[in-house]
Amino acid sequence: MKVGIPKETVTGEGRVATTPDIVKRLCAKGFEVCVERGAGRKAAYANAAYTEAGATMVDAATALAADVVLMVRAPDAGQIAALGKGAVLLALLDPWGGGEGFDLLAKQGVSAFALELIPRISRAQSMDALSSQSNIAGYRAVIEASARYASFFPMMMTAAGAARPAKVIVLGAGVAGLQAIATARRLGAEVESFDVRPEVKEQIESLGAKFIELDIGETASGEGGYAKELSEEAKERQQQALTEYLGTANIVVSTALIPGRPAPVLITEDALKGMAEGTVVVDMAAANGGNCPLTKADKVSTKHGVTLVGYTNFPSMVAGDASAFYGRNLFNLLNLMVEEVEGEEAGLGFKDFSEDEVTAASLVTHKGEVLYPPKKA
Ligand code: NAI
Repeated sequence: MKVGIPKETVTGEGRVATTPDIVKRLCAKGFEVCVERGAGRKAAYANAAYTEAGATMVDAATALAADVVLMVRAPDAGQIAALGKGAVLLALLDPWGGGEGFDLLAKQGVSAFALELIPRISRAQSMDALSSQSNIAGYRAVIEASARYASFFPMMMTAAGAARPAKVIVLGAGVAGLQAIATARRLGAEVESFDVRPEVKEQIESLGAKFIELDIGETASGEGGYAKELSEEAKERQQQALTEYLGTANIVVSTALIPGRPAPVLITEDALKGMAEGTVVVDMAAANGGNCPLTKADKVSTKHGVTLVGYTNFPSMVAGDASAFYGRNLFNLLNLMVEEVEGEEAGLGFKDFSEDEVTAASLVTHKGEVLYPPKKA
């Protein structure tokens, strides 16, 4: 069975779906691996490292024609047309973003898996690409904030005077938020955090940060570590309470999200007006409308003296490790999908994708049909 890894073509994407280390594991499992020349360059993986690991370097068309195609981002129409009938595609397919490519993938006869739909259950943790990439993004968001902030993060005592530690507020303490807290603490900042799920208080405190107690009249714990949407009154109460609180921050990293929904507004224009000159807001939800409605996706802008960072692809800024983690997620998922078959066509074969809840939940096109969003019974 052939696995193909094409070069990513989405503007600004630096990651690659497989690293040389994963190539070794794929070959050991019995796959033949072909990688498009230059696919790993932006993530600092040279062609030579892939060949040493056992891959063959090929052109784009050959990589796309493999039995299993591993990608970071969704293929465009031209790439879909180059996929083989019956091929299996594993990628971040953006199932909540409209999914116009799904029709094309179904028509092409591709079995496509959207990594975003891997359920957040213990057994599937090693395949959970959203978490592996959010973790990296939370780290990189704080590094970005520290580079754009005009002062120190840690307390500094020098012969030329002392500097106070920066105060960082992290909104939303899921995967990205907890890593942002940990990173800001490692850099020596004072950190406070708020989340609508009260159960994360302990996790926030275990990282040495303070849990912000806001009385908004309700909590919003949902399934699988995700939040539920707040009522309109609670949303308003939260905005008001935060507006005052955020004025005390030097840095705000906001990560609040409910999957498949527009980002909740937590940082209003009034909140920006109340912040000191030079405050840095990294709005990680920029791709989904932003936790601050004034954030511009993929841009850095200034409003009321506050720097608003709206980058939507922080993992790509740590492309080496982001690719390594993502590649491992893909390898673990692929491992779950295949088995040794005996007889005339001995070798690796695909299992029935509907039999395992992980593959069943993430399969979005199969045998000419679009399976996501699932039809209501
Ligand atoms: P997550 O679901 O693990 O965490 C989101 C957290 O927000 C949850 O703990 C949830 O309880 C909390 N939340 C929801 N509504 C809230 C509200 N009204 N107030 C306070 N907290 C609230 O999600 P994850 O993986 O940590 O991602 C967080 C955000 O970062 C998402 O918007 C995601 O799209 C974004 N992201 C951005 C990247 C970038 O490069 N900019 C890369 C990766 C993720």
